[in-house]
Amino acid sequence: MTQLLITGGAGFIGSHTSLLLLEAGHSLVVIDNYDNSSPEALRRVLELAGPGAADRLVVVEGDIRSAADLDKAFAAAPSGQPIEAVIHFAGLKAVGESVGDPLRYWDVNLSGSRHLLKAMQAHGCRTLVFSSSCTVYGLPETMPIGEGAAIQPINPYGHSKAAVEQMLADLAASEAGWRIARLRYFNPVGAHPSGRIGEDPSGIPNNLLPFVSQVAVGRRTELQVFGGDWPTPDGSGIRDYIHVMDLAEGHRAALDALLAEPPQLLTLNLGSGQGHSVLEVVRAFESASGRTVPYAIVARRDGDAACTVADPHLAAERLGWRTRLSLAEMCRDSWCWQQANPHGYGG
Ligand code: NAD
Ligand code: UD1
Repeated sequence: MTQLLITGGAGFIGSHTSLLLLEAGHSLVVIDNYDNSSPEALRRVLELAGPGAADRLVVVEGDIRSAADLDKAFAAAPSGQPIEAVIHFAGLKAVGESVGDPLRYWDVNLSGSRHLLKAMQAHGCRTLVFSSSCTVYGLPETMPIGEGAAIQPINPYGHSKAAVEQMLADLAASEAGWRIARLRYFNPVGAHPSGRIGEDPSGIPNNLLPFVSQVAVGRRTELQVFGGDWPTPDGSGIRDYIHVMDLAEGHRAALDALLAEPPQLLTLNLGSGQGHSVLEVVRAFESASGRTVPYAIVARRDGDAACTVADPHLAAERLGWRTRLSLAEMCRDSWCWQQANPHGYGG
């Protein structure tokens, strides 16, 4: 059993990963300020993790920008043991919002991460898994995207993620003993197969899958497909979708590697290596749900790329991890969650 601190553990990816880690027998402290999540997510994580799990989860409502809240979290381990490693999900992730309010993004994403690293130093913890994003590659010229591709983000959200990546590299170079994984996720979607936890975006979803599932369930009338004239086989944009349970497994594998191997700075894409177009996603969702998803092809969205697909080989080689779940399974599980929780955790 390892004693872990999970920042942002009530969020979409954090809740699924927390469940997997509890099931693997670890003991967790979660710190979350519920800026974009609900305490209900962690209640359901405990329900899914089964008897005894409640003794291995402590939740601290707090902000990663507060040294006092972080101290509280570092002292809260249910095992009484020191925190051995941190998985850092807490952050803001809406591209459009980051363009309108960049200071908030620099504050939470960069300053929040700096506070966390200071607290880790103060508490003698030097093992970290960080949520980065394929957004750090911007609009890459070659496909699939390897980890050596240029870092050239095109919006404040991406800049803040790239800056944290750089801060982590500087830190690892400054002091021996750091074990750090920078995980660049591609497009996380899906939900736990039980339908009890899933993605609960507030307001109008920016991302494709939550929008499609809200159309299928009748909360929205029609999907707008952003561009039908991309240089792709059907003219719609192509992305590398990854099931959130595969992503959770990727975190577990990265953590195991960091703890087992000598100190290192590991940088890995977490994606499937498979691209799917918007229209393929619509068809897959229609088959999974048995519902029609009306759509209209509209103008391209600013800042979009035609196609982004990961080269996932390095993660396979370094972690022995690869995705297992298909687009059909992503749509099946999103639909199961959406149907059972048409308004997310709010009812
Ligand atoms: P999410 O918004 O569901 O989860 C983030 C969690 O962090 C939320 O529970 C939120 O309340 C919490 N949080 C935000 N600010 C905080 C603060 N100051 N202090 C404490 N907690 C705070 O997002 P997610 O989809 O689960 O993403 C998790 C991480 O992965 C983020 O860092 C995100 O940038 C990154 N990421 C996400 C995606 C994606 O498409 N979902 C893709 C690539 C990278
Ligand atoms: C978006 C972010 C990216 C972030 C990623 C996280 C932008 C420009 N990029 O990427 O920084 O890392 O989410 O998962 O916001 N689409 C539609 N109609 C919709 C929504 C999306 O056609 O209503 C299309 C998009 O044009 C794209 C695909 O669906 O081709 C996927 O879009 P989305 O889910 O927003 O993800 P990304 O664009 O990859």
